[in-house]
Amino acid sequence: MHNIQQLSATIIGQVLAGRNLNQGLNEALQRHSSFTPQERGALQDLCYGTLRNYGQLVAILNELLSKPLQDTRLRDLLVVAIYQLQYSKAAHYAVVDHAVHAAKMINAATGGLVNAVLRNFLRKQTQLMQISAKTEEGRYSYQQWWIDSIRNQYGALTSSILQAGNQHPPMTLRVNERSTSTEQYLERLTALEIEAQQISPRAVWLKTPVTVDKLPGFFDGVVSVQDAGAQYAAGLLDVHDGMRVLDACAAPGGKSAHLLESYNIELVALDKDEQRLERVQENMQRLKLTAILTCGDAAEPQVWWDGKVFDRILADVPCSASGVVRRHPDIKWIRRPSDIEGFAGQQAQILEALWPLLARGGKLLYATCSVFFRENQQVIGDFISRHNEAKQVVISAHDLNNGQLLPNDSHDGFFYALLQKDA
Ligand SMILES: C[S@@+](CC[C@H](N)C(=O)[O-])C[C@H]1O[C@@H](n2cnc3c(N)ncnc32)[C@H](O)[C@@H]1O
Repeated sequence: MHNIQQLSATIIGQVLAGRNLNQGLNEALQRHSSFTPQERGALQDLCYGTLRNYGQLVAILNELLSKPLQDTRLRDLLVVAIYQLQYSKAAHYAVVDHAVHAAKMINAATGGLVNAVLRNFLRKQTQLMQISAKTEEGRYSYQQWWIDSIRNQYGALTSSILQAGNQHPPMTLRVNERSTSTEQYLERLTALEIEAQQISPRAVWLKTPVTVDKLPGFFDGVVSVQDAGAQYAAGLLDVHDGMRVLDACAAPGGKSAHLLESYNIELVALDKDEQRLERVQENMQRLKLTAILTCGDAAEPQVWWDGKVFDRILADVPCSASGVVRRHPDIKWIRRPSDIEGFAGQQAQILEALWPLLARGGKLLYATCSVFFRENQQVIGDFISRHNEAKQVVISAHDLNNGQLLPNDSHDGFFYALLQKDA
């Protein structure tokens, strides 16, 4: 286990230095290709769990130390070990022994300190948990600027939004209506004793996540994995058969595929990342759908656009991903306030560049998986103030508030705004 503990600490250190968690994990798993499925799962659990609770774990560690640790490798090791002691079923003696062993490999003199800190944690665990909740970073496990920003926007909802981002994410499926009905698919799941529930016309929520190979019909394109909040997009865009539609930031193709499953349309799926565009192709093949795949920058249509306007455009723009942090807990620690400004700039640029591609009377759905006003209502408000010929269409879905879908038990956090060009 010490290998897993140590490896997790290394990956956490990389994330705190700004690296994406998936990249770190994938690289580690490639390097340790002999890991068993259990070891792979344990590594993922430790990394995800530690990052979900990082603010609390650091608050506890600071309480246990008389002065801050100079060596960040030691800090990350202790944080992972405290996570294991607090949240995992691993035997306490094994967690402490492995951490001491790993610490000695970093610096032979630190074994005693690590042993003392972890034993002290076990002695004062309840009290330390209470103390850690005294600061907001410790209580919620987000950076303070993030907490402040959510509070400024959402007031009394702050705690529930932040806590929703620290839960394990639900696994939700989208049933391909060209293949089967949602009712029939639920029966197939029940036959396999996979507990599930329909939560919207095509969305099926699984009580316990499973790997896709356990899902009946997955490889035949009967079903896809897609959050219920992401499934709002296809309906909100107000598409009709025969339309020409652009999905301007399409990869990996979840919303493109949903549109093609629902309507007989010509769909251009654009993405600027060639490798990610390959995933759109794989998804289209699995689902037996056809899209016109185009690699290009949505902010530079002069390079790839054929001049034929679109009846509908989906702009699922790059964003902070602040609405999906339970799936990507590294985001909580990687983002800086200046990033939000940077995303807002890119989003405005993309919107501006795509607008001329929309037919008169056509509609554009702007989407983010962010909960920050700056990337959502403000980008749309600024755009409308610059364009007399753009109107925002009121969209009514039961839990959309001013376009904002807040993360909860059934879906992630998203923002949607529908714009129409004057006829
Ligand atoms: C939120 S993801 C899209 C998810 C996708 N719509 C789905 O439902 O599966 C954003 C995508 O935008 C792409 N992207 C970022 N900037 C872009 C740009 N300027 N032009 C085109 N694609 C861009 C990224 O490569 C990424 O695949």
